[in-house]
Amino acid sequence: MAAAKSKSLTPVDALDKKAARRELARLAHEIAYHDARYHGEDDPDISDAEYDALRRRNAEIESLFPELVRSDSPSKRVGSTPGSGFGKITHAVAMLSLSNAFDDEDVADFVERVRRFLGLGEDEIVAMTAEPKIDGLSISLRYEKGAFIQAATRGDGAVGEDVTENVRVIDTIPDRLKGRSIPDVLEVRGEIYMSPRDFADLNLRQEKSGGKVFANPRNAAAGSLRQLDVAVTAKRPLKFFAYAWGEVSKAPKATQYAMCESFAAWGLPVNADMERVTTVDEMLAYYADIEKRRANLDYDIDGVVYKVDDLALQERLGFVSRSPRWAIAHKFAAEQAVTVLNDIDIQVGRTGALTPVAKLEPVTVGGVVVSNASLHNADEIERKDVRVGDTVVVQRAGDVIPQVVSVVLEKRPKSSKPYKFPTTCPACDSPAVQDMDEDSEKKDVVRRCTGGFICPAQTIERLRHFVSRNAFDIDGLGDKNIEAFFDLKLIHTPNDIFSLEDNDKAQEPRLKDREGWGAQSAAKLFAAIDARRTIALDRFIYALGIRHVGETTARVLARVYGSADHWVDAMTAAGDGPESTAYLDLIGIDGIGEAAADAVVAFFKNARNAKIVSALLDAVTTVPLDSVASESPISGKTVVFTGTLEKMTRSEAKDRAERLGAKVSGSVSKKTDYVVAGSDAGSKLKKAEALEIDVLSEDEWLSLIATD
Ligand code: IVH
Repeated sequence: MAAAKSKSLTPVDALDKKAARRELARLAHEIAYHDARYHGEDDPDISDAEYDALRRRNAEIESLFPELVRSDSPSKRVGSTPGSGFGKITHAVAMLSLSNAFDDEDVADFVERVRRFLGLGEDEIVAMTAEPKIDGLSISLRYEKGAFIQAATRGDGAVGEDVTENVRVIDTIPDRLKGRSIPDVLEVRGEIYMSPRDFADLNLRQEKSGGKVFANPRNAAAGSLRQLDVAVTAKRPLKFFAYAWGEVSKAPKATQYAMCESFAAWGLPVNADMERVTTVDEMLAYYADIEKRRANLDYDIDGVVYKVDDLALQERLGFVSRSPRWAIAHKFAAEQAVTVLNDIDIQVGRTGALTPVAKLEPVTVGGVVVSNASLHNADEIERKDVRVGDTVVVQRAGDVIPQVVSVVLEKRPKSSKPYKFPTTCPACDSPAVQDMDEDSEKKDVVRRCTGGFICPAQTIERLRHFVSRNAFDIDGLGDKNIEAFFDLKLIHTPNDIFSLEDNDKAQEPRLKDREGWGAQSAAKLFAAIDARRTIALDRFIYALGIRHVGETTARVLARVYGSADHWVDAMTAAGDGPESTAYLDLIGIDGIGEAAADAVVAFFKNARNAKIVSALLDAVTTVPLDSVASESPISGKTVVFTGTLEKMTRSEAKDRAERLGAKVSGSVSKKTDYVVAGSDAGSKLKKAEALEIDVLSEDEWLSLIATD
């Protein structure tokens, strides 16, 4: 097949629909042909740049004509295997793992083994590198003539997944290496990871948007990299450290250490904490030092890796089964510690949930001083029979909140009594009750304060939620100021925020004269509040902090009811009973479950809430739905999801569609533009076919929305 370069091509924006369809067909075949030559036969007949140009043209046409995206489109394939998510890449040099050392003796044995294997005399030293063992996922990056061309995960060590397109969008991985003596072929190996801080931020965002919350930075990094939609990967704060290599046409240096220096010179991130050591004592000192610094490092680690520095010696040492004889991972012990439980504190959340927190005698767990740990709920305390005064084992896993694992029963004081979970709220003394879950007919494990707005703890949490980033997002009204204003009786309910400036004029002293404030900072705060007097309806609804009404539900309500007045009227009317039209309409909305519906109705039945909302609506103006993109290929389209989706939950799919400006409907009609059919799709799919509506597979859908 002739390469496209010789033809003069019609500019993409001059193509009409018919020409675009023809061009997409041609590109699909041509790219598939080059893929096969490249991956299958290892014999490409066009340059990478020409190949990239073909793919780019395909993507550009698809973004102008999303309805023409073919089921065999190259944009749906990452690498050579179509369909199954990621293509496969056979590693030119296998990606091996490391054997482990768990204590000092294991490390000494390793060094001894190396010396014996090499037949070294007693006075001959073996230099080693010592470096942190990064807790991320290993990756192989292939550069040819300095240009990044391919990335593969480790997979089973022999065959990995092709994540080239995902890696391309990671900022910290260079597209092109710089500097001199770059080998023609260079497979750089290393770890993709997420810093603990970025991980915490990401989880916060995920939690707020109802997305997936990750258990630890490692999972977050892996989940973020392995996204079929590279636009998602691009938004994730992924980082990389280079520490090894696979195929290299000509190794420029003779030691592990110098190779890493070369990587750095070529623009690849390498870990500055790598050192050269020569004795077991130095290795162990390095380990102790890193373990001490562990909590303050910008990356999660699970041990230290020692490698024989001299590459000629590495070559001689070779491998045993699947690990090199020249390296070992010295793992950290599980992060647990034993301490005394001084007290159990009960915290009250925004929705009144009482959460027990263990107050501990401060103890260092994996380099971090821990004085609080989670006890989850009353059931958990009972199950573990945790009592005040007990000696307990606490554990810290990655960035997760420390937990009480178990009680050391031998150390239990004789006088100790089983813990009695409070039945009244510690902040306001109102009864704290366990709701009945109607479906399971079991009591909810969580006990809740029934005090509502009379409960100061709930009130402060509600106010915090009200001003939080995805709600009213008021600059300068952070947690501390909210609490201070509440204590000063300046703000009690959300609407007080909007009368703060007026009320302040009648106050003595004025805010500007209070400690920590000045004329400028007070004016700035009032301006920040004013800036939020106009707000999108979905944010407004979310800000009210109604139970079961997260951002996604708020968005659905905002979209369906259109205006604040309309919404408030309908929610009030829905309080007339389960047979009322307003209530039936509400639970009939796709995306509104009964729990959310009942919570909203109960919220408005409470006269105090209704009054607060009404006062708020006097102070602010709401505008329709926030964050709707108008330029996306699906904006204004009506989409129906049916069947089981594999890569995301139904609510996540809907949420994303709505963010891109589509309307998501529960039933197929002539007005439907796309039906996205997961597995086991039934009648909706049949109806779509009968009405000749475009039916997309989940992957087709993902690539359609990825083109924006
Ligand atoms: S060297 C031939 N260095 O640990 C072995 N590995 O348990 C090359 N890892 O799959 C690996 N930090 O994902 C090496 N500084 C480091 C590392 C490291 C983390 C991971 C790597 C490997 C696993 C082995």
